[in-house]
Amino acid sequence: MTGFYEDIGPWSEIKLEIIKKYSQAYSQILSTQQVPLKHVYIDAFAGAGTHISRKTGETVPGSPQNALYVLPPFKKYYFIDIKKLKIRELEKISQDRKDVFIYHGDCNRILIEDILPKIRYEDYYRALCLLDPYGLHLEWEVIKKASDMKTIEIFLNFPLFDINRNVLWCDPEKTDKKNIERMNRFWGDNSWREEAYQTQYGLFEDKDIKKHNYAITKAFQKRLKEIGDFKFVIDPLPMKNSRNAVIYYLFFATHNQTGANIARDIFKQYRR
Ligand SMILES: C[S@@+](CC[C@H](N)C(=O)[O-])C[C@H]1O[C@@H](n2cnc3c(N)ncnc32)[C@H](O)[C@@H]1O
Repeated sequence: MTGFYEDIGPWSEIKLEIIKKYSQAYSQILSTQQVPLKHVYIDAFAGAGTHISRKTGETVPGSPQNALYVLPPFKKYYFIDIKKLKIRELEKISQDRKDVFIYHGDCNRILIEDILPKIRYEDYYRALCLLDPYGLHLEWEVIKKASDMKTIEIFLNFPLFDINRNVLWCDPEKTDKKNIERMNRFWGDNSWREEAYQTQYGLFEDKDIKKHNYAITKAFQKRLKEIGDFKFVIDPLPMKNSRNAVIYYLFFATHNQTGANIARDIFKQYRR
């Protein structure tokens, strides 16, 4: 952390590049429809809008700042962060723009109660929503509401590092209750446990063995489709550190075929 700004690893810079590329294509397409659509950008875990690159030591624009520079512009921008200092930075980069709406507080509540219900199909609203927490801070209710609106596409950070470190312990009986509850809120119920462990039957006792990380990630992809009811959920992109360890998976879900095709193409460029 340098002042208000956080140091980010190369994997975060890649994420920013991917979202920037997609936002550009999205805004271009939505701005040139025959029906005048109002497309908005929602950054739920917005951050300060600026970071420090661990690689170069230079400042790099964060996701809200990148979105503000997309051309043609979105019709509105919604930025949310739970930290007051980050809100002040977001206010600075937004420079009193009338198309920017900044919220201070828990994005789970703000999205459900205020922002997502505004993105109504019949009012010609469409939205690109970035759900990019550090860990298990997002609630399933938000994902489901975004899908139910049928107008919202999401990028979602599946926080594997937090999940592995705090929830999916080799001995599941030892995981503390608070972390189980965080996982339940993120997953929507406690069915993640069946996806993450398999029972090994023994002569004297049965034991739950943790499956490979990819099993839980694939189960979440299936859940976004089957329970979340998103029409397209493209294969998530593993975001890795220099030691080739996966920090998180980047998901993209939408109801729109074109959106899915574009995101799939962009992810493909980074799959190596
Ligand atoms: C990974 S950072 C966001 C980075 C940003 N998307 C980017 O790429 O530039 C996560 C941010 O979420 C904020 N945060 C954590 N919990 C939150 C919550 N419940 N509601 C809103 N913001 C939250 C943190 O203060 C932090 O700034």
